[in-house]
Amino acid sequence: MAQPLLQVRHLATEFETEQGIARALDDISFELMPGETLGIVGESGCGKSVTSLSIMRLLPKPAGRIVGGEVLFDGRDLVQLPADEMHDIRGNRIAMIFQEPMTALNPVYKVGRQLEETLLLHKPELNESQRREACVAMLEKVGIPAPQRRLNEYPHQLSGGMRQRVMIAMALLCDPDILIADEPTTALDVTIQAQILQLLRDLQRENGMSIIFITHDFGVIAEICDRVVVMYGGRIIEQAEILELFDHPLHPYTRGLLQAIPKLDTEPKSLLKTIPGMVPSLFELPVGCRFQNRCEFVEPRCREQVPPLEDLDNGHQVRCFRAGEFR
Ligand SMILES: Nc1ncnc2c1ncn2[C@@H]1O[C@H](COP(=O)(O)OP(=O)(O)OP(=O)(O)O)[C@@H](O)[C@H]1O
Ligand SMILES: [Mg+2]
Repeated sequence: MAQPLLQVRHLATEFETEQGIARALDDISFELMPGETLGIVGESGCGKSVTSLSIMRLLPKPAGRIVGGEVLFDGRDLVQLPADEMHDIRGNRIAMIFQEPMTALNPVYKVGRQLEETLLLHKPELNESQRREACVAMLEKVGIPAPQRRLNEYPHQLSGGMRQRVMIAMALLCDPDILIADEPTTALDVTIQAQILQLLRDLQRENGMSIIFITHDFGVIAEICDRVVVMYGGRIIEQAEILELFDHPLHPYTRGLLQAIPKLDTEPKSLLKTIPGMVPSLFELPVGCRFQNRCEFVEPRCREQVPPLEDLDNGHQVRCFRAGEFR
């Protein structure tokens, strides 16, 4: 069997805040296989972005730090890697695209200059005309019309969808092994969103990269992912192949999320089913299962002990004492 490209093991990340220490990630473990698209899904605040920022070592400093675990890539632990070696990996072997392109694009520089800078940094062997050529080719690949002209424009001259494409182009210029996409389509309207997902799929087919796709939208997960990690309150609560998860969701939280997806036969404008209650704050985390206050199946032991992440067949994992009853 193929070896995983990336192994996240028991990752724990904390923030130092005025209210005290907030543990945003607790014992996060997953693997990413070559060519695979792994989805990370969960409600706002569950730790999706902190997971990707931890892998990339881009946590805000000095507040955020990794306090435990490892991120194994290419035989090395990225958590322990010296800053300069991490610098070579970031943007080159592992690239990231963000929800809001303007966080990655600098408003005062032309698109061409920003793309070329990525190449200057990671592919110093290219000369100026080769760099230019590579940028034009990449913009063409991500479906930007008249790429020559676009190179001389500023980010604000582009539409939201075009900016997102430029950011994808920038991330892919160095042909990364892993692309981390943190809600890359949330800010876009549905048609553009569908085009961007299609684009990512096409590019992946071409270059064989692995993708970590972060979203709170199970509909998007269904479109693009091979496997899914479901997070809640900084922990993984379920993980499985996509079809397995849709056919046999076991955690009450996952089951709730899946019921919240609009179906074709739902009446237009009818309210979606949502899970009542709110995600607990990192400062008031309950003992035991973090979903307990919203769970209709809660039992006394759920308030006393953390349910272990249990391994079932074919890579399905679930963190719930009562999961067996839902199989
Ligand atoms: N710089 C920070 N300082 C303190 N706490 C932080 C910081 N960044 C994130 N957090 C906390 O870490 C937790 C996880 O945040 P994260 O941004 O990973 O959520 P998310 O799953 O990406 O949510 P969303 O869907 O809204 O993007 C949250 O409780 C958040 O408040
Ligand atoms: Mg986020």
